[in-house]
Amino acid sequence: MLPWLHTDHAPLYLAPMAGVTDFVFRKLCRELGADALVTEFVSSEGILRRDDRTRKYTEFDEAQRPVGVQLFGADAVNMAEAAKKIIDWKQPDFIDINFGCPVNKVVSKNGGSSLLRDCPLLTQVASTIAKAVPIPVTAKIRIGWDENSINAPEVVRLLEDCGIAAITIHGRTRSQGYTGLANWDVIGECAEAVKIPVIGNGDIASGADVQKRLRETKVKGLMIGRAAMSYPWVFRDARHFLATGEQPAPVPAVQRWEFILHHLRLAIEHGRYGAEKFTLQSMRSRLMAYSKGLPAGRRLRERFCHVSSVAEVEDMAAEYLSHPSLLWGGGEDGAAGAWGEGEALPGSSIERLA
Ligand SMILES: Cc1cc2nc3c(=O)[nH]c(=O)nc-3n(C[C@H](O)[C@H](O)[C@H](O)COP(=O)(O)O)c2cc1C
Repeated sequence: MLPWLHTDHAPLYLAPMAGVTDFVFRKLCRELGADALVTEFVSSEGILRRDDRTRKYTEFDEAQRPVGVQLFGADAVNMAEAAKKIIDWKQPDFIDINFGCPVNKVVSKNGGSSLLRDCPLLTQVASTIAKAVPIPVTAKIRIGWDENSINAPEVVRLLEDCGIAAITIHGRTRSQGYTGLANWDVIGECAEAVKIPVIGNGDIASGADVQKRLRETKVKGLMIGRAAMSYPWVFRDARHFLATGEQPAPVPAVQRWEFILHHLRLAIEHGRYGAEKFTLQSMRSRLMAYSKGLPAGRRLRERFCHVSSVAEVEDMAAEYLSHPSLLWGGGEDGAAGAWGEGEALPGSSIERLA
């Protein structure tokens, strides 16, 4: 059961993120060292309707294994049926149940984190699915509904009794959304409370964060979400830090632009979002995430808001890399002037982007 969680090498998971962790981004993060992947969540109703779009969310290839497909819903029988259908189509390594989504559209139908308020329904869903399918079933939870009802230590015990094979805990309540800090004391308490592996999640952004959480809690793996969205090299760098104690230098801007363009080209080739224009529109928020940490990031984001072709992004890259301080000025992410007026970025090579 989940062999990658039963070694000394604590796996680093790429977090499931709707609209982000699609086939292409999962592939890229796997290449950069993510040890395990989970698809964006899919609705069990969509799977049962054989809705093509829902089915596309679950796509992966052999190089992405181990990979889990994440399901949400509130009807235990439908969810179990949906899990079986996914296994028939794709044979993922595990099915992950979403008990953490805070979004009203999901919660109002009793899905996602709303099940944290209804433990009898949560256990019914978990045990029905775990009994129905021949592969491991895992769950992803938040620490509770709100600060007055933090019940993750109780929930993980219930899930373990239901036959759940591992649990990821995002250390925030549903009410917190993505604000405040993840509560790692509760994650640590949960990891002590059960024998099955617990994967810790929330605010991990570096190898030092990974090391701290592994030292201070009994989690068996870590999951990284938003940090990977803006800096997918976080997996590779974290692994390097764990092995050597050294934090690698940040990836230079030229390489980041190469990566951005590679991602765009792969996304167009993969065709999930349709023609080039629609792919670019769908990926604007992704481009904005990549601009975090780049000098003059704010200026970049203003322009990424409007791009609709790869050629435009290529032009932006060439402009940026040839005259960063002149063209972009300073920015919230650091002054481009730090390289000196009109100087090219260290290691820049526009030809390599062509
Ligand atoms: C854009 C976005 C989409 C998300 N979609 C999902 C999802 O589909 N399923 C899920 O379990 N969590 C989802 N999450 C939550 C993340 O998996 C993760 O728990 C959260 O971002 C905290 O981890 P981090 O601090 O490393 O980002 C999403 C988060 C973001 C930012």
